[in-house]
Amino acid sequence: MASFRLGIIASHGGSNLQAIIAATKSGELHAIPSVVISNNGGSLALSRARSEDIPAYHLSGKTHPEPEALDEAILQALVTHDVEIVVLAGHMKKLGPKTLRHFAGRILNIHPALLPKYGGQEMYGRRVHEAVLAAGERTTGVTIHLVTADYDTGPIIAQCEVPVCEGDTVDTLAERVLQREHAFYVETLQKISDGTIVLPGAMVKER
Ligand code: GRF
Repeated sequence: MASFRLGIIASHGGSNLQAIIAATKSGELHAIPSVVISNNGGSLALSRARSEDIPAYHLSGKTHPEPEALDEAILQALVTHDVEIVVLAGHMKKLGPKTLRHFAGRILNIHPALLPKYGGQEMYGRRVHEAVLAAGERTTGVTIHLVTADYDTGPIIAQCEVPVCEGDTVDTLAERVLQREHAFYVETLQKISDGTIVLPGAMVKER
């Protein structure tokens, strides 16, 4: 069984981050959360990481006003902690070209809908679920995809469906999808770990 070192990047609450950490602690997921990065210095993601003794860094336009310097700082944080796979969990910014190039084919993002529908720069948070409800969809879902230079357009690695129920509000739908995300990110990472899913850029070492 391969285990890999994860670098997790999150902007806000980090409930996916928390689910991944919990799965590594329980042994359900063979991975090592090695560093957490957030563009939001006050994010719950950073405090969750620190409370688990995972190295945690606030790296943003505030700490590094030049985009090139920020890209380099993020790359260095990931490389310094020997990260093999980068996991975006609610990261609200684009990654810079150096980081994208270094980790090409091994940066994952999770999106709360069935891409390519309901994706793109303006489609995040509640807006996704509002659009799904406004379109009268009976089914939505979760997509895990590789990260490229554009929002939500990289190759899809895994998808699962989530029902839209009669009487759903944005809140009830968002909660159902988020709960599914937690399990699905862990399941998908475990499939990468056991070789069921092979990432194009994966360099997962036997430990
Ligand atoms: C999730 O809905 C994810 O799909 C999206 O951002 C949200 C992050 O939630 N990319 P959390 O911070 O993990 O709770």
